[in-house]
This record gives sequence, structure tokens and C-alpha cells, in this order.
Amino acid sequence: MCGIVAYIGDKKAFPIILKGLKRLEYRGYDSAGIAVNNGTELNLYKKAGKVVELEKFAKDKDTSGNVGIGHTRWATHGKPNDVNAHPHASGNSKFALVHNGIIENYAVLKEELEKRGHIFKSETDTEVLMHLIEDIISKQNCDLFEGTRQALNEVIGAYAIVVISEDNPNEIIAAKKSSPLVIGVGIDEFFIGSDATPIIEYTKNVIYLEDGEIAKLSLTSGLTLKTIQNVEKTPYIQELEMKIETLEKGGYDHFMLKEIFEQPRSIQDCMRGRLMLHQNYISLGGIEAYQDKIFAAKRLIIIACGTSWHAGIVGEYLLEELARIPVEVEYASEFRYRNPIIDENDIVIAISQSGETADTLAAIELAKSKGATIIGICNVVNSTIARATDCGAYTHAGPEIGVASTKAFTAQVTVLTLISLLFGKNKGVIEPARFTRLMHELNAIPSKVEEVLKSDAYIKSIAEIYKDAPNALFLGRGINFPVALEGALKLKEISYIHAEGYPAAEMKHGPIALIDEEMPVYVIATQDASYEKVVSNIQEVKARKGKVIAIVTKGDKVVKNIADHVIEIPKTDDMLVPLLATIPFQLLSYHVAVMRACNVDQPRNLAKSVTVE
Ligand code: M6R
Repeated sequence: MCGIVAYIGDKKAFPIILKGLKRLEYRGYDSAGIAVNNGTELNLYKKAGKVVELEKFAKDKDTSGNVGIGHTRWATHGKPNDVNAHPHASGNSKFALVHNGIIENYAVLKEELEKRGHIFKSETDTEVLMHLIEDIISKQNCDLFEGTRQALNEVIGAYAIVVISEDNPNEIIAAKKSSPLVIGVGIDEFFIGSDATPIIEYTKNVIYLEDGEIAKLSLTSGLTLKTIQNVEKTPYIQELEMKIETLEKGGYDHFMLKEIFEQPRSIQDCMRGRLMLHQNYISLGGIEAYQDKIFAAKRLIIIACGTSWHAGIVGEYLLEELARIPVEVEYASEFRYRNPIIDENDIVIAISQSGETADTLAAIELAKSKGATIIGICNVVNSTIARATDCGAYTHAGPEIGVASTKAFTAQVTVLTLISLLFGKNKGVIEPARFTRLMHELNAIPSKVEEVLKSDAYIKSIAEIYKDAPNALFLGRGINFPVALEGALKLKEISYIHAEGYPAAEMKHGPIALIDEEMPVYVIATQDASYEKVVSNIQEVKARKGKVIAIVTKGDKVVKNIADHVIEIPKTDDMLVPLLATIPFQLLSYHVAVMRACNVDQPRNLAKSVTVE
């Protein structure tokens, strides 16, 4: 992961880069650095910790210059300290480089370079690449573009890099393979970002670099684009649709809270132009074009990681129930390493908020190499995964900045619901009356989410009671089982409380041994097909003195009499309950994390996009 920002133009580079790094901090936040060329020399500042530490460190230093590069890091090779922070300078201090990705053959390259007299200061793979570029430039007496191009032909792995030189303050070199890089094209100025968020306030015109491309951004000759095999390319400039307000906290204390509260709108945005209520029709053009192939397939395989994987399991219930298509859901990280039996008749659905997750991308590449058709469900428009798929549907949830995924999850589930309804109808396996009823129910979900959000203060009071419990169990059955998994993940990742999600009926096969009067057990006990069974499971917990916090259908009396606390959600169709039941868990985790003084938006050890294995 890691975030890259760079600038070249007539403005002061440092503040633009610093601001951009703050925007990209969700990608990694264990150290940060900026190098600027002040016209005569490169000044390089790096600091362990968040971008604000770098800001303090560089406060009284020379940060002048109109060209510079910056980086916010999530450590892979080497500890998160000042030395390992990017940018990395060449041995002669004439060049500086920032990198997102992993150079897999760095050890071999390093050994060879050491034999040739190169001395390394850091433990990073990135510094090796910087020295390799320097080595080629000095041996061949070529320029930075050519030296970088040749070096990239020697590396194996993933990279998005930006390089500058001391001697030429008029140009920046950028290249990418498997890690994202966007170039913003202004008037006599260029911006670079790992995504468009640091660029959007300056220009809407962007170029998404393709894998294997290398660009020279020059104040004298403009933009040159080639492949690293030296083939000229024509840059394709496109206009961003992103809005700057979506990148701000908008009065909320944290992005996570803002994103939780955005869900009525993000779900609505996800359905816009797709759920055609009055025509009783669902429009998902890209996917529908592949419909015959999908219906002919033996089963669908869903691949994803983390929260997206939980959405995938909800999707399994939806697709099997509404479209009667068999589904297998796989962790992308497992799928990619187990020689899966898959061929050109198979359909793979890849789900990813960021569209960058390395394991999901690798799983897609594997499935593609075997001829499978890939459907993408991504949030980030134009992301690597979105571009690697044959067709797909964006979730349109808007930028999700908090590391804990919230609105992306409900948008993913919404897309999967739309796909299931579309296929169910077109296959003729869903009764027309049920289809119409579900269309109306789905259409009502944003206002029902709004209603659930009104319980925020009450959920906060529950969080206050259980914030110090060191463990928690989350239980759900059927389509709500993945909601339990998601609830546990939310609590774990932002409040560092050990939590497990379990199918409620499985509790008696082991986890029940954990239950005592200290253990909060969060249960989805809505009035659906498995209601009575879940009520029995709650009784089992209470019989062992566990504390039960149940999510129930509005007006429920039975669970209210047994549970310690109930959180009501509006009645909806059984298949749509995950879209509502997940919200109280998001709020609960948020409040617990705030009360425990945890960094909600940037939890320890995590980053938003996991672009390493
Ligand atoms: O961007 P992706 O959806 O591919 O990311 C997958 C996971 O890394 C992600 O969902 C992660 O589990 C979140 N931190 C969960 O909140």
C-alpha cells in the first residue's frame, strides 16, 4: 500500500504534497517523507509516524522548490523508522525516489549492486531500485527517464514510482506496474497521486497510467508516455467525476462516522438508474451483456478479502435464493494459491472497495489465465481491479476514507441484491410478485437505514456499558451470519477487542464454553425464517449468564423479555435484513473505539488498501 504524491509546476511543491499526503494517509501511516528540489539541491525530509510529524519536523527547514515527491508508508520491507521512510536518495544524493509496491528480486539486485560498491542505508527494497537507476545512469551516461526505464526492465514485482533529480528541476519521471498511479494535468503543471484525491482540487483532467507505462512530466517539453519496452503511447486524458466535499469530514469527528451516516445516500446512489421501480425492471447493462454465459455456468465463484468477502457471503445467500445459481465464496488469498479447478466456462465475481487489493487482483489474474469471465464489483472508479475485469458494476458509494469499511459494504450488498434480482427475473426463477415486492422493499432501504441511524445515542449508551469487555461474540443465522462476521471484524479492527463472528447454531459446538457473565453476545434476532431458532440460541447464552445485545425487528416482544438490551430495526424482507442489521454494529464499534481512545480512522497496523500479499 503506501501513498504517493508529486508536483511539478509554478507553485510551491511542498504544501501541495503535504496536503496530498494527508489525503492519502488512509493508505498507510507509519512514516512519511518529502523531497523537494529548490533549484540547486534536493532537500529530503522523512519522519516515522504520521504526516503531521513530518510537517512539524520540516517546519523551519528549507522547503522551497517547485518540484517534489512525497510518500506516506505502510511498512513491508524494514521497520517503520526515519531511515526506512521514503523518499530514498541515490548514493550520490542526486536522485530521490518514492515507491508503492514490492520489488521481489531486490535481494539479488542488492547483492550485485553491493559488489559494485553501492552502500545502502535502509532495509528497503525501494532503495535498491534507486541505486539501480543511479547505477545505470552513471554506467551509460543516460538521462533519468532512460535510466529508470532500463532499471524497471530488471525488476520483478509491483511498483508505482516517482523519481526526481537534483540537476533537472524541470522534470519528474513516473511509472507503474500493479500499483496505481494517476497523473493530474493542469496548465503548465502536473500532479501525481496514488489516487485522484490529492489532485481533485487542482484539476479534473487525469491520466491513469497503465501497467508497464513510464511517463516524463516536463515543464519544457510536456508529457511523454512510453512503455518500459520503449514504445511510444498516446496519453488518454479523462475527466474526474469526484467531488471535493466527499474527501472532507463534513463536521463529523471521524470519517468512519461520516461514512456510516452517509449510507442512506450511498445506497440510494448505488441503486440510481438501476432499480427502475415504476418499470418493475433492473438495469445493469454491463453485466446483463454476459448473462447467457453466466446462466450456462455450473456455479459462480465470488472472490474477495475482509469486509468485501463478508459481502460476498451475503451475495451467496442472495444469488442462491433469488436466482437459484450455485455460488462458492473464496478468500482471494487462498484461492490464488490452491490451484483452483476453473476453466473458460466459469464466472468469477471479484468484490473490492479499493479495487487494489493484491490478493484479489492476483486471484483475478489466475482465473483469467484459465479463461474464466470476471465480473467486478468495485467502489473506486478506474481502479486496477475495475480495469482487470470483463464487466461489472460500480458500487458508487463515494470515497471511503475510514480504514474500517462501512458504506462500501452496504453498497456491495446492494449491488449483489440487484444482480440476484436481475438474474432471478431473467431466469424466470423468482415469482413476479416476489420480485416486485423486493423491488419496493429495496427501494425503501435508504429511509429504513435513516431510521436505524436514529438509534445512535442509544447504541452509544450500550457501547459505554461493554467498552471494557475484552471479548465479544457476534451471532447470526442464514443471511445474517456474514453480518455477524462483519460485526466482529469492525469491533476487532478499530477497538482492538477480541471478537468472533459465528453462525448462531454453531455456538453450541465450541464457543459456548467462552460464555460467562463478562461476555457480551451480540445477536441478530430479527423476525425471519430462523427467528425461533435464534431465540433458542439466546436462551442458551442467558442460561450461562452471558450478556445479550440483540438486534430485533421493531415491536419485538419475545427477545425484549430475554435479552439485556435490544436494538430495533424496521421490518424488511428477510433477504434485505443485512442492509439494516449491519448499521448498529458499525455504530457500536465506532463508539467503543472512541471511548477506548483508539484511532478510529487509522487503526494500528492497518491500511485501507492492502496492495501486498
Ligand atoms: O478494498 P477491498 O475491499 O479489496 O479491501 C478488502 C479488505 O482489506 C477490507 O475490506 C478490510 O477488511 C477492511 N479494513 C475492513 O473494514
